[in-house]
Amino acid sequence: MIIQNQQDVTAAVLAELQRAENPRFREIMSAAVRHLHDFAREARLSEVEFHQACGLIAKLGQLTTESHNEVVLACGSVGLSALVCLLNNGDHGQTETTANLMGPFWRLDSPAYANGANIALTHHNEPPIFVNAWVRDKEGHPVVGAKVDIWHASSEGFYENQDPAQADMNLRGQFTTDANGHIAFRSIKPAGYPLPLSGPVGALLRAQGRHNMRPAHIHFMIYQPGFKTQFSQVYSSDDPHLDTDVQFGVTQALIGQYVLHQGEAAPDADVKGPWYSLDHHFVIEAGEARLPKPPITGKASGERPQLEVLARR
Ligand SMILES: [Fe+2]
Repeated sequence: MIIQNQQDVTAAVLAELQRAENPRFREIMSAAVRHLHDFAREARLSEVEFHQACGLIAKLGQLTTESHNEVVLACGSVGLSALVCLLNNGDHGQTETTANLMGPFWRLDSPAYANGANIALTHHNEPPIFVNAWVRDKEGHPVVGAKVDIWHASSEGFYENQDPAQADMNLRGQFTTDANGHIAFRSIKPAGYPLPLSGPVGALLRAQGRHNMRPAHIHFMIYQPGFKTQFSQVYSSDDPHLDTDVQFGVTQALIGQYVLHQGEAAPDADVKGPWYSLDHHFVIEAGEARLPKPPITGKASGERPQLEVLARR
């Protein structure tokens, strides 16, 4: 087709897409082309702005390594990850769900532990946290034998993959639900943490006057054949950034009660000082058990990254 005007371009691309054999591919690409072209029209995108956008997207890929995923950070920062999660869980967005973003820090093959184990491998002076979690199906029956993968940041706000000072797979572990659909583990209370600002995500947040903090949370991933694999995060009820999470991940179902205990005996006898507890319930939906490609595969080496926090204007 010889292009006569700006409308013709959209029509020409959509017509060519009809050649695609896979109907789902055709549907997704057609919607993407329509919205991208309409986006350029609505924003009256200049050539300079278009070239800036291409540079930004290229940079997202160039900065993505085995220990850092700038693409996932960017999707979260514009709310796309939260939207896709809510569209695909809770009866396709109709009911409350305990599903949440996968995030950029999940690693495959974390160590398997028995219930009650301590996943804090590196020495930490902070009060421990004792976590109990229950997995049920939509009818309220316990889900037995589910694999529950746990990962979270340290009390300084670093995941082990970012932090050469932490042991490999520190604050990560896999547990299996018992006859009551229950897992239990010991760790340390995580801190909220700032997203790295060195790439396009940092530039976009600065331009919007936003802070870059995630409220403190523990990640869960629940895998059981016959059920849709559920990624989840349970946020700390005492965190000041719950309602301004830079990744837009916090829902009411995922605000966990991180309870401080002082002067009470802890579940482990070696704990003499204060400690925290967290009890949380997850509901998983029938569906396909499938693991996505992990966003990172390794641990960083060299210096610890500098944590930089932006003020919210
Ligand atoms: Fe996280």
